[in-house]
Amino acid sequence: MEFSIKSGSPEKQRSACVVAGVFDSRKLTLPAELLDKAANGYISDIIRRGDMEGKAGTTLLLHNVPGTLCDRVLLVGLGKEKDFREKEFGNAVRTAVKTLNETGAFDASIFLTELAVKKRSVAWRVRQTAIAALDATYKFDQFKSKKDEVRRPLRKLTLGVERRNELGLAEEALSQGIAIAEGMALAKTLGNLPPNICHPSYLAEQAQAMAVEFGLGCEILERADMEQLGMHSLLAVARGSHQPPKLIVLSYQGAKAGDKPIVLVGKGVTFDTGGISLKPSAEMDEMKYDMCGAASVLGTIQAIARMALPINLTVVVPATENMPGGSASRPGDIVTSMSGQTIEILNTDAEGRLILCDALTYAERFEPDTVIDVATLTGACVVALGNIATGLFANKDALARELLDAGDEAHDRAWHMPLWEDYQELLKSPFADMGNIGGRWGGSITAACFLSRFTKKFEWAHLDIAGTAWKSGADKGATGRPVPLLTHYLLQRAGKLN
Ligand code: BES
Ligand code: MN
Ligand code: ZN
Repeated sequence: MEFSIKSGSPEKQRSACVVAGVFDSRKLTLPAELLDKAANGYISDIIRRGDMEGKAGTTLLLHNVPGTLCDRVLLVGLGKEKDFREKEFGNAVRTAVKTLNETGAFDASIFLTELAVKKRSVAWRVRQTAIAALDATYKFDQFKSKKDEVRRPLRKLTLGVERRNELGLAEEALSQGIAIAEGMALAKTLGNLPPNICHPSYLAEQAQAMAVEFGLGCEILERADMEQLGMHSLLAVARGSHQPPKLIVLSYQGAKAGDKPIVLVGKGVTFDTGGISLKPSAEMDEMKYDMCGAASVLGTIQAIARMALPINLTVVVPATENMPGGSASRPGDIVTSMSGQTIEILNTDAEGRLILCDALTYAERFEPDTVIDVATLTGACVVALGNIATGLFANKDALARELLDAGDEAHDRAWHMPLWEDYQELLKSPFADMGNIGGRWGGSITAACFLSRFTKKFEWAHLDIAGTAWKSGADKGATGRPVPLLTHYLLQRAGKLN
């Protein structure tokens, strides 16, 4: 889809469709009112008859509205004005775009960008419109031999802004929104790909291709490199698989070479069977999504490169399968991590932390400003937070605050979880420096505590996206989260969030 920004009156738009909002109890928004005035009360008449009540999720398509230059007017219900917040804004855009795809309209001018959302700027509205519009049209149908083609898909969306002097900021926000949406689409597609295709070598190839396209530095570490570095924890997870593990490193330099990079580490388990501690078979297919942390950091670095942000960013992805097999790790095995700390593997299904700990130790060599890891780490996090909030842990409260704020701004929210010393003792092992599990309770916290033992040398945060990275059920699919949170955090760090 193509996007542009325009300031101007809705009734004067020569597009195939003009989109305007109506609040619950039939209250016209300003753009709808302007259309109504030009049409001599035509729209308010229709609304009075009860054809559009303004309920969220509803739409009404009108043709040849008098006094306007467009072919159609699409009214979109917005729900109650006092409840109109970030989520409602995004949903209104999604509803509008989905409905437009069902009409013959080839292009549309959308006047939802003019609606006030408490505390949010014009730039915010433009960015979120682009993100929501592209999110709503995302499809993953490459394995369907017969595709559900949209007959006349919407090709061009023009976003209306109220004032001419807002155009500059709006243009910048639009390109940010598009970059973020494309990063999300990459994350979704990598997540949705089946595990027989999206294995560690595939991820490495994708990273290499991205490096060429966006001018990034790229290094792929092989099993032999990992052995040399002493990454025996990561290697222990890879042992059961016929697919070779890869440690993928991508670097984007947008600031001075000497500026410390922000490092993102993404869990890249391309399929998690549990290993010898085998998972039950129900819904095991969803463990193809166990590389969504990797997918999200790849999507994020792509978006940052597209936006050419003035920061340095490095992405580290430990990629492996977790399979059972004759040479797989056993419960009871003890391995020495790259940090030198020894780990008793009590459950081979707690593999995410085993690969992340070595990747986090590896991150030390970049002398990072900040390290953030992203992982579908624990079922316990889904129990705690469901699929609404990502679990957030940090060894520095100021960093946690920045990430929480970024999540709120992007409407890709996280919730701060405790990382208190008191939980650490649950990781005690009689035979090694630690076990890889902490018992029945507080599973997302003990997993984070495990990682904290490998992140003492830098400011670090951990995002547990087990509940938020994909949806199950009828609309199964990757969500692209937390690309919005991460990109907004980085926009803020770069001073480019307006
Ligand atoms: N990838 C899973 C976590 C997961 C499970 C994410 C279900 C989303 C849905 C992870 O590797 C795992 O298996 N964790 C175990 C840890 C346990 C053995 C301590 C879990 O959560 O059950
Ligand atoms: Mn597991
Ligand atoms: Zn896993």
